[in-house]
Amino acid sequence: MSVKSFSPQPNDEEKIIDSALRPRQWDHYIGQERIKKNLKVMINAAKERKESPDHILLYGPAGLGKTTLALLIAQDSNTNIKITSGPVIERAGDLVAILTNLNEGDILFIDECHRLNRFVEEYLYSAMEDFKMNLILGKGPLAQSLDLKIPRFTLIGATTRLDLMSSPLRSRFGAVFQLNYYEQKELEEIIKRSAKLLNVEIEKDAIEEIAKRSRCTPRIANKLLKRVRDFAQIEGQGKITKDIADKSLNFLEIDKMGLEIADRKILETIINKFNGGPAGLQALSAATSEEKNAILDIYEPYLIQLGLIKRTHKGRNVTKLAYDHLGIKCSKEQEKLL
Ligand code: ADE
Repeated sequence: MSVKSFSPQPNDEEKIIDSALRPRQWDHYIGQERIKKNLKVMINAAKERKESPDHILLYGPAGLGKTTLALLIAQDSNTNIKITSGPVIERAGDLVAILTNLNEGDILFIDECHRLNRFVEEYLYSAMEDFKMNLILGKGPLAQSLDLKIPRFTLIGATTRLDLMSSPLRSRFGAVFQLNYYEQKELEEIIKRSAKLLNVEIEKDAIEEIAKRSRCTPRIANKLLKRVRDFAQIEGQGKITKDIADKSLNFLEIDKMGLEIADRKILETIINKFNGGPAGLQALSAATSEEKNAILDIYEPYLIQLGLIKRTHKGRNVTKLAYDHLGIKCSKEQEKLL
């Protein structure tokens, strides 16, 4: 079992799980109530005006349902959706091919839009604003400028890193929504629904236990549910009991707060090598052998959400709670410095 297997970034197997358990109507999409309400208003108003909705930017940690929301928007608007991602659009020509193949009113979903190449981004500006692109064909004195009209479309951008998006791109989205981590009760509802879809019996206490250890993230809740189901099938009678859930999650080294090995390594490193902090990103990455982006995108947001780490301008500090959670003694002098 690799340490990264519970990362909220989906691998191919997880994309299939995502797809099978993905809610396909608004009523089945649990949580993010304010965003859902705003989106429904936007879509209905655009429908009444017989226009396409404004461009929409969704941001927040991975696994919270940005793609699912985009699919629901497309379904509610009765339009096609083309799904792509920032790093896949390498050249302006790739963008031209995508945009000219859209039909009037279609939705283009660009995941990881903070990773769009700056050159491609420049072309996207006029496409988003005026639904045209200015192409320069050829080089030098023979170069020709061509204005290309493209169908009116709605761009839905998704990103885990709003801070890395350029402000010209950000400002071209008419609506920007931040997805938040899920509450315990919402995760319980998601797990209950998924268990039903997977046709597996599950005790209420087991649902609570899995929800507690799901990093407040539906994608992880569904992944853990599937792993626990395996244990229930092999070690038990198929039914997911609290005892089976507990044992299997311990076996997967997911602790009571939902931390995995890598999270604990980050906390332990800040405590043992940086005396509780502050630890700079570069130094922390070198000391833990975790990629900087994985620390920023995956581990740190959840550790901050749990109140185990605090970010300051000098770096990251662990909190007293982190010492307590790991069972490491924190002296009174140390506590004052945190
Ligand atoms: N699966 C993933 N995200 C979900 C959500 N928000 N509601 C229901 N099922 C989900």
